[in-house]
Amino acid sequence: MKKRNFAAPLSENTHLLRWIEKMVALCKPARIHWVDGSKAENDELCAQMVRGGTFIKLNQKLWPGCYYARSDANDVARVEDRTFICSLSKEAAGPTNNWVNPYEMRRKLRGLFAGCMSGRTMYVLPFSMGPVGGPMSQIGVQLTDSPYVVVNMRIMARIGTPVYAEIDKGEKRVVPCLHSVGAPLKAGAKDVPWPCNPDKYIVHFPESREIWSYGSGYGGNALLGKKCFALRIASNLARDEGWMAEHMLILGVEDPKGEKTYVAAAFPSACGKTNFAMLIPPDPLRKKGWKVWTVGDDIAWIKPDAEGRLRAINPETGFFGVAPGTSAKTNPNAMATLAKNTIFTNVALTPEGGVWWEGMTDQPPAECTDWQGRRWTPEIARQTGAKAAHPNARFTAPAAQCPTIDPAWENPDGVPISALIFGGRRATTMPLIYQAFNWSSGVYIGATMGSEMTAAAGGTLGKVRRDPMAMLPFCGYHMGDYLRHWIMMQKKLSVTPRIFHVNWFRKDAEGNFLWPGFRENMRVLKWIVDRTRGRTLAQETPIGWMPRYEDVEWSGMNFSQEKWKQIMAFDRGAWRAEVMGHEELFLDLHDRLPKEMIYERELLICRM
Ligand code: OXD
Ligand code: MN
Repeated sequence: MKKRNFAAPLSENTHLLRWIEKMVALCKPARIHWVDGSKAENDELCAQMVRGGTFIKLNQKLWPGCYYARSDANDVARVEDRTFICSLSKEAAGPTNNWVNPYEMRRKLRGLFAGCMSGRTMYVLPFSMGPVGGPMSQIGVQLTDSPYVVVNMRIMARIGTPVYAEIDKGEKRVVPCLHSVGAPLKAGAKDVPWPCNPDKYIVHFPESREIWSYGSGYGGNALLGKKCFALRIASNLARDEGWMAEHMLILGVEDPKGEKTYVAAAFPSACGKTNFAMLIPPDPLRKKGWKVWTVGDDIAWIKPDAEGRLRAINPETGFFGVAPGTSAKTNPNAMATLAKNTIFTNVALTPEGGVWWEGMTDQPPAECTDWQGRRWTPEIARQTGAKAAHPNARFTAPAAQCPTIDPAWENPDGVPISALIFGGRRATTMPLIYQAFNWSSGVYIGATMGSEMTAAAGGTLGKVRRDPMAMLPFCGYHMGDYLRHWIMMQKKLSVTPRIFHVNWFRKDAEGNFLWPGFRENMRVLKWIVDRTRGRTLAQETPIGWMPRYEDVEWSGMNFSQEKWKQIMAFDRGAWRAEVMGHEELFLDLHDRLPKEMIYERELLICRM
């Protein structure tokens, strides 16, 4: 077969061509490759990365279509302290974002990007977040010098030929995304498996809707459709256009009558979002006809339709999930999803050419190669504490392979959203489940949600970090304005979704988790659906509506009334401290905080 001329442009859009010309002049790549998104192209890029040492092809009998990569030890996660929102004014970015004057930042970036792709290929990667041409979808073009990014983006977003066609229609604004690993290659020099730069800049210009990312090839720093576009830039678009870009999973609950109720849920990192999105109900509920369908596990774009009902799309097409802890027990659907056509990064490699990570099996392999290429055995782990997989090791897996993927997951108009759920990791204070009284009290619950910092995240162990709507690292403008936007959204709605708060992580006095979590979370989800559909009663408390013991479906589970009392307890003393914590967040946001938040806080205090 004749090889395509990769340098030949695949778009006729003059704005795009002019921008690429300028970026080529700046970055000085050795060559240019217009990505068409085909399987043949993908196979060739993977083969090229195998030859160059970036990829290892896994044992194809065990892991068909799967590849393995190890990153540089200094490029393993999103870098929040190197992430910038460079709006024209510092006030517009707000106190929760890093801000640098955009003129200064542009000067800095021009210096960094000058010649940064020399010796490398610049890939022109067009992508659509949401189904191509869909009314809720958005388009970007990422210029990148990382083939690893191209093949990951091919799983995470719709890319290539159909997107060029959409761009050439000229009807939609294209978000320009420039990305470089920041490692120019000298003539004749041998490349390293994971080029990157210790100096990293993940920069967003909200007014001109641009993303510039330098120095990292990993995850959210480099797959620019995800956090950079679908949350930070999209949150700006959403505010201006009257919709919402949220850090939320979307799932559909099918009940025994065959009726489906869709909910979206926001949880901070390390709270089990992917597991919740792919939940399998406990057997007694499953047998009665309850089933959970997956629409998305990380991002929801939510918009009111012509009737004033919220509808949501998952703008992505893949799951970029944390591998450690994922197993056939904790998330069989994720394990089935990642069984083929998946890219694994920073997990461990087994002698048979397979992958392993902590928590994948009860019994670790007798020996493997860890995420840094060193020999690892359970004995070495016992002696040194070394992990086989990096705690932030990831799988990039196609959503379409998920056994519970919802038939409507690619509906360009989205799915109707009946309920929103907020949650965090809280050892105390927060009951298992409660329902907000109304929209503004629900926004207050989301605005003040928090999660205890885990050892992995650093900081003071157990200290609650306030993370409004789980958007703290992802909101591309002032958090106070963001909360105002939430309040304002209600005016566009004829039906407001019900709002809930859950906490799977409450502990007893001895430090044991009170709730088993995982599949049993279905019992809470069932109550949420029943409430949303007006099928069940609830009890009024100072913080919201709560189920009584008898309102929960307990078949097949032994959970005593005594334990229920403990896990649902409203502790006045703890809530005093909680409300003080809310005030700390509000002090930071005071100049732009919507007044509804102050009133809601006062009402909460009065009820207490
Ligand atoms: C993610 C995150 O990777 O939220 O999805 O950090
Ligand atoms: Mn996320």
